[in-house]
Amino acid sequence: MPRVNQICCIGAGYVGGPTCAVIALKCPHIRVTIVDLNQARIDAWNSPDFSLPIYEPGLEDVVRKARGRNLFFSTDVDKGIRDADLIFVSVNTPTKKSGVGAGFAADLNYVELATRRIAATATSSKIVVEKSTVPCRTAESMRTILDANSKPNARFDILSNPEFLAEGTAIDDLFAPDRVLIGSLQTQEGKEACAALSEVYQNWVPKERILTVGLWSSELSKLAANAMLAQRISSINALSAICEATGANIAEVAHSIGQDSRIGPKFLRASVGFGGSCFQKDILNLVYLSESLNLKEVAEYWKQVVTMNEYQKRRFSKRVVDTLFNTITGKRIAVLGFAFKADTGDTRESAAITLIRDFQQERALVNIYDPQVESNQIWADLNEASPDVPLAAIQRQVFICSSALEACKNAEAVIIATEWAEFKTIDWEAVYAGMNKPAFVFDGRLLVDADRLRSIGFKVTVIGRGERL
Ligand code: UDX
Ligand code: UDX
Ligand code: ADP
Repeated sequence: MPRVNQICCIGAGYVGGPTCAVIALKCPHIRVTIVDLNQARIDAWNSPDFSLPIYEPGLEDVVRKARGRNLFFSTDVDKGIRDADLIFVSVNTPTKKSGVGAGFAADLNYVELATRRIAATATSSKIVVEKSTVPCRTAESMRTILDANSKPNARFDILSNPEFLAEGTAIDDLFAPDRVLIGSLQTQEGKEACAALSEVYQNWVPKERILTVGLWSSELSKLAANAMLAQRISSINALSAICEATGANIAEVAHSIGQDSRIGPKFLRASVGFGGSCFQKDILNLVYLSESLNLKEVAEYWKQVVTMNEYQKRRFSKRVVDTLFNTITGKRIAVLGFAFKADTGDTRESAAITLIRDFQQERALVNIYDPQVESNQIWADLNEASPDVPLAAIQRQVFICSSALEACKNAEAVIIATEWAEFKTIDWEAVYAGMNKPAFVFDGRLLVDADRLRSIGFKVTVIGRGERL
């Protein structure tokens, strides 16, 4: 069995960075180098004051312990590849924006470029591990590229090792994963490569949690896990619409159904809609895969999960407009939270982007506050969401604030878009005093104590609750 002494990770993003930092921490005998083409990103990972390029609780501590010991960050991709026994490919795989499969299929350009680079550079045999979420059978394409371009004496074993960490809890998830999944070809070499990677994880993950399966099952399991999780949220959000129309309470409904051990209590929190880089992308991938396999009904089934999510966001912004007497033109709306969930600075597919775009189109004035998201990221996201509106025009309508209290000043309504814990402990009396009256709160995350806010004087609308301002 090959032994792993040096690991290279191509891609220093939300997945590659934390994953390989934890591998370095837990395996002091393995030298781990994380490479990326993006110089600014690598500089941030190497910054003397540890101002890392991504915000993730506990990450800084891991990097402080391992960086310079057996964890290195570099833009020298070729050296990283040459020196490694095992290479993780952890590059971005966004949804295609144009060409065949636009809007659905994954853009595999980055995976392909990284794979070609490995083939061109490697002078000895490597285990190549697909870490990015990719459509089923990508490993096959990687193998074809590697085999067709490899140098003599360099043979490649391909593994699929999808990452299941969630942002905001990445370090905890990596320290104690529910499972580690490794897919390989069922050949002797494939099984040996699988055992070599399994040994790396066994430095801290109990052996029974390391599942070894076929290559295609591994790839499909990742898409399936994200699709099932997203489907739960769309299901609870669909029920939240019924609750709002009937006077039932989604929190009570979710609790009641979650007590059924077959259903379980987690991941049943109604919200303004799911976001993040994975759920929508992976479902659209599954839809595209189903369509290309001529499984029309299967494609339609999964597509509905995304349709319901879009509906949930639209429904929420409409409820805001309806409640504010059918117009928000010229009114100031405070949006608390811009990240797609709490404890991350990531904004990819965040529901807040859609809500704010809707408010802009209604010609409201929007104040935004998020504890982690940088201003230039907010402007880039809003610009992309309204390609026909010049940024200068957006900036006359939207304002970025440095605290929740500042964002709520002179506002007519407060929207809770992300479930940051600090929004629970805002000085709501002070918020109320600074707002125009009647002062509205729209809780899109089931976060605040609506009755307490009502006792202060707010008119409160909660997702999944009938009107009871
Ligand atoms: C997800 C998967 O959880 C993870 O296993 C996979 O590796 C990557 O995709 P992530 O997108 O980081 O992780 O966060 P997650 O906690 O799953 O949340 C996704 C979205 O769903 C967020 O917008 C979140 O606010 C929303 N959500 C989650 C709900 O609206 N309700 C819930 O009950 C749970
Ligand atoms: C169901 C609910 O489980 C129960 O809580 C409710 O009170 C009544 O409806 P029941 O219809 O008796 O109970 O049986 P259940 O075990 O839920 O199975 C329903 C159907 O689903 C069966 O045809 C079963 O074969 C099928 N099923 C169940 C599957 O195909 N796969 C599964 O994993 C589980
Ligand atoms: P994820 O959430 O999947 O980790 P990110 O976009 O955060 O995605 O990170 C992917 C990283 O991969 C980016 O920093 C990007 O610069 C890097 N990357 C993409 N292609 C290559 C490549 N061929 N070589 C090295 N790095 C790459």
